[in-house]
Amino acid sequence: MAARDRIIFALDVGDLDSARKWVEKIGSHVGWFKVGLELFSAAGPAVVDLITSSGLKCFLDLKFHDIPNTVAGAVRSAVRLNAHMMTIHISGGPEMIRAALAAAREESESLKVPRPRIIGVSVLTSLGRDDLPGLGISRPLQEQVSGLVELACGEGIDGIVCSPADLPFVRPRVPEPAVIITPGIRPGWSEKGDQKRIATPESAIRDGADLMVIGRPISQAQDPVRAIEMIVREVEAAGR
Ligand code: C5P
Repeated sequence: MAARDRIIFALDVGDLDSARKWVEKIGSHVGWFKVGLELFSAAGPAVVDLITSSGLKCFLDLKFHDIPNTVAGAVRSAVRLNAHMMTIHISGGPEMIRAALAAAREESESLKVPRPRIIGVSVLTSLGRDDLPGLGISRPLQEQVSGLVELACGEGIDGIVCSPADLPFVRPRVPEPAVIITPGIRPGWSEKGDQKRIATPESAIRDGADLMVIGRPISQAQDPVRAIEMIVREVEAAGR
């Protein structure tokens, strides 16, 4: 995989015009753009269209979590938008995961477009070990993450999102060709911001990440294109 195709730029902006500026500025330097709840709620399908019509790939991070029938419908709609990758909550259960995978397969076959990847989110990193008992989860955090990852991979999910700190125990549980995507990436030269459990691009890739979601180290750099070039060099140095 080319180094630039491992970089997903987090389009953490609140309107279509701002998104367009980023797509124009760095679209020829990164492989992917991530659209999350804030931007999608503001700009809707037009933002996915903006990305895909520029020949770029869209990671639609809306973290679907509902009854299987509803999630299947959401996935079908996202396939019609041409999203290349989208997220679901693994905690929606095996039937919901199967419904999402089947919807992606069936809708893409009927539209004759490439099948988008369905990516599973395990435990939100905003939750700590002290939060789990209140949610009725008695096993330790790491076991909960591992259990959800094993469940999702057993159902044939296409990939997992996890913190770079979790790679040592998540990577062995995710069989190829499923991919691992990590946020929380901070090159040595960038500000940490509010991210705590961070890794450099080089160490995340070396530890087994396939793709990285990167926002502020690029968006807040004085020269975003140069920041991407430096990240690309780090990825290449990881030698995977
Ligand atoms: O700006 P920064 O590189 O921290 O952006 C990271 C992106 O990844 C943001 O869109 C953020 O919502 C997302 N994310 C994260 N940590 C997680 C999960 C997602 O930073 N655990």
